[in-house]
Amino acid sequence: MSAILPPSERLWWKQPIDKVEWAWIGIAFVWGMIMFVMMVYWHVYGKQNLSNEAYKTTPEMFAAKAEKFIAENTVRTETDLQIPVVKVPAGGDGYLIARLWNWYPILELEKGQTYKIHLSSMDYQHGFSLQPVNINIQVLPGYEHVVKMTPTKSGTYAIVCNEYCGIGHHTMLGRIYVK
Ligand code: CUA
Repeated sequence: MSAILPPSERLWWKQPIDKVEWAWIGIAFVWGMIMFVMMVYWHVYGKQNLSNEAYKTTPEMFAAKAEKFIAENTVRTETDLQIPVVKVPAGGDGYLIARLWNWYPILELEKGQTYKIHLSSMDYQHGFSLQPVNINIQVLPGYEHVVKMTPTKSGTYAIVCNEYCGIGHHTMLGRIYVK
């Protein structure tokens, strides 16, 4: 029987299930179970996994916290746009705003220290993608995502938005410095 032609038996779903079909159903079921167990297993044993927490917030509340953090910890500004470079206190909290179309401010971290980075969006959904280490987090308005990070290598890391957010999506870039 060819899939191009209509089935010869119109009530095909009333026919008994073939042995081969049962075999595939069995394979799919077992594989589904393996993948299900892997979700839990990999969360515990997968080295690249981040455990992030999320809290309810509002864009106004998050912006207020971020502005306070920026006002207290800015060390210099960069480019003609005077983008603040903010040094996150060692072992402390850093705030990063996602909005159309930038990541604000630039964060500065120290190698070997552990930080809690708070992320939220002011408008739509954005995707935090840290390159080249490939850490990916969905950033949503109304939620404050808290991610624990311990940078192990110094350098300049790029943040790209990997969730389509409109006409300027491809220009939505940010930066994290690790000293
Ligand atoms: Cu923000 Cu794409």
